[in-house]
Amino acid sequence: MAQLWGGRFTKETDKMVYAFNASIRFDQRLLEQDIRGSKAHATMLAKCGLLTEEEKEQILTGLEGILSDVQAGSLEITDAYEDVHSFVEAVLTERIGEAGKRLHTGRSRNDQVALDMKLYTRDRIDETDELLKELLEVLLRLMKENLTTYMPGFTHLQKAQPLTLAHHLGAYFEMFMRDRSRMQDIRKRMNLCPLGSGALAGTTYPLDRELTASLLEFDGPTGNSMDSVSDRDYLIEFVFDLSLIMMHLSRWCEELILWNSNEYRYIEIDDSYSTGSSIMPQKKNPDVAELIRGKTGRVYGALQSLLVMMKGIPLAYNKDLQEDKEVSFDAVDTAMTALRLFNGMLPGIAFDKERMRESAALGFTNATDAADYLVRKGMPFRDAHSVIGKMVLYCIEKDCALGDLTLGELKGFADTMGEDFYDAVSLETCISRRLTKGAPGPLAINGEIREAKEFLSSVCNPGRN
Ligand code: ARG
Repeated sequence: MAQLWGGRFTKETDKMVYAFNASIRFDQRLLEQDIRGSKAHATMLAKCGLLTEEEKEQILTGLEGILSDVQAGSLEITDAYEDVHSFVEAVLTERIGEAGKRLHTGRSRNDQVALDMKLYTRDRIDETDELLKELLEVLLRLMKENLTTYMPGFTHLQKAQPLTLAHHLGAYFEMFMRDRSRMQDIRKRMNLCPLGSGALAGTTYPLDRELTASLLEFDGPTGNSMDSVSDRDYLIEFVFDLSLIMMHLSRWCEELILWNSNEYRYIEIDDSYSTGSSIMPQKKNPDVAELIRGKTGRVYGALQSLLVMMKGIPLAYNKDLQEDKEVSFDAVDTAMTALRLFNGMLPGIAFDKERMRESAALGFTNATDAADYLVRKGMPFRDAHSVIGKMVLYCIEKDCALGDLTLGELKGFADTMGEDFYDAVSLETCISRRLTKGAPGPLAINGEIREAKEFLSSVCNPGRN
């Protein structure tokens, strides 16, 4: 058991307590961030005259060696160390001696772990942003390719009004566009460096916090040192946005599962993204979509855990804060894997455009347009609604569509009915008449596509500049 704080103790830590307290099992994934932070801290200490140039060089080389040896597999991280910070400092001191013991000057594990978590979160924000960008690019391409792919729109899962696949996909474009702008927003707000806040009350050393912040590509140092070591708002915001991303993916997966079903048959998911049954030879199941839908709950769970974990924490650092890691790591892994898999699955989905069109033409999706036709002929909308309702009932009995009725039959319902009724209730007309901003009509959807393109070319990933 290698601990950094044995001095004031006369007894060994109880074994169960040691294991309960230790975080190395899960915080070892912060190794790269921990070393990045320590290198910046050492560089700053030397600039401020708190380390000699030689000590700094020894520390930097030592830290780089630790990282590359762990990555190469020649140095093992074991549970002999309490946490990743203790591991790095112990191995460094073992390897370079005296200088290693000076690295922690003007630093506490409290501001160190606050920094590591921020660096980790910022890295993952940049990667998530990139994945969202990939998704939006595929979506935009699919929208452009499906301007005249007709399909029914649903409310209550009942056929409602006709629309196009481009318009349906456009709804998801909006959701993921908001997710992406939220990522950028969180990043901007969190991008301040906590290093130099010490345990809770700053330090007595003349540290240059601006320098460490800029070495680590932060916009500046954080303010109040007590908040700096105990703030996890940015992590909660990130996990919240991941929860929304999962919610959006899950809604879409639910639709893909329906559309892929034998009853709908709107789409076929590629073989490489489907699985079979051990007993039923005919089966091809959309497991990826189902799992993304299923794993959404885990990410929500992490968000809830973080919020509850934080709610009783008095200022400043308390060990509860160590509980921020496992749940958020799991949420990040889950959501980013879901996004990667979704991005892999989406381009391979085959849309059965003929089947979607047939489905749009059935089920009276043009009934609202038929009522609007009568309104244009002078009838009040409420009366038109009732007349078309009766026509629908008649058609259900005859097992036909509104457009299949003869002119004579039409006139039996309203004498203003004319030949132009058939064109007014055709799929093409129903779509092309929808011109309001945000509607599926060609003019409106082209406007949406223009805005989508503008969003994609105007937003860049701040981590990749
Ligand atoms: N493993 C700890 C955490 O994750 C590191 C900070 C420990 N600080 C302390 N004062 N015990 O929060």
